[in-house]
Amino acid sequence: MRSFLAITFPNRVAERLAEIAAACPMGRAVPEENIHLTLAFLGEAPEAILDELDETLAAMRADAFPLTISGVNTFGGANPRAVWAGIAPEPRLAALVKRIEGHARRAGLELPHRRFVPHITLARFRNGTEETSEFRRYVGAHVGLSIGPVDIRSFGLFSSQLGAGGPQYEELARYPLA
Ligand code: 2AM
Repeated sequence: MRSFLAITFPNRVAERLAEIAAACPMGRAVPEENIHLTLAFLGEAPEAILDELDETLAAMRADAFPLTISGVNTFGGANPRAVWAGIAPEPRLAALVKRIEGHARRAGLELPHRRFVPHITLARFRNGTEETSEFRRYVGAHVGLSIGPVDIRSFGLFSSQLGAGGPQYEELARYPLA
């Protein structure tokens, strides 16, 4: 099952982010119900491994923390793959991701050793999309975005089904932060 661990946001925050996403002049905007911050992408994970990881995460004790959503940026430069909202540095978020990655690897999953860039994807673009001046203006207009601090009190395990109309996510489990 294609799955990932992520933080979701209170409705008012997701709604605001979805509005900004919908205003993006190119690409496919992420709808409000799909707005999230990925902690770890688990890929195609066997169910037995997901079950083991689920037990570990359910038993894990980790701190709740506030997050401030900050600015808008892109991946991919002049050929953007995605536009996203950033997260102000928060050591407890980075620590949570490290712990989760450790648990996922010990459960048998191979995660890429990439630097964690916390981001909330707002819109995705087809390969080879070239940025327009209107898009550059849109990004420039949102660099000063600041939402929060938002109290983060849990994270979830989600399955992802890819389809022509975009991915469908389903929350399989939720893990509280104390
Ligand atoms: P993205 O928002 O930058 O696309 C579900 O696909 C979530 O897992 C998305 O938030 C996605 O990040 C993230 N993710 C991380 N690595 C991925 C990968 N190799 N393939 C698909 N999604 C990935």
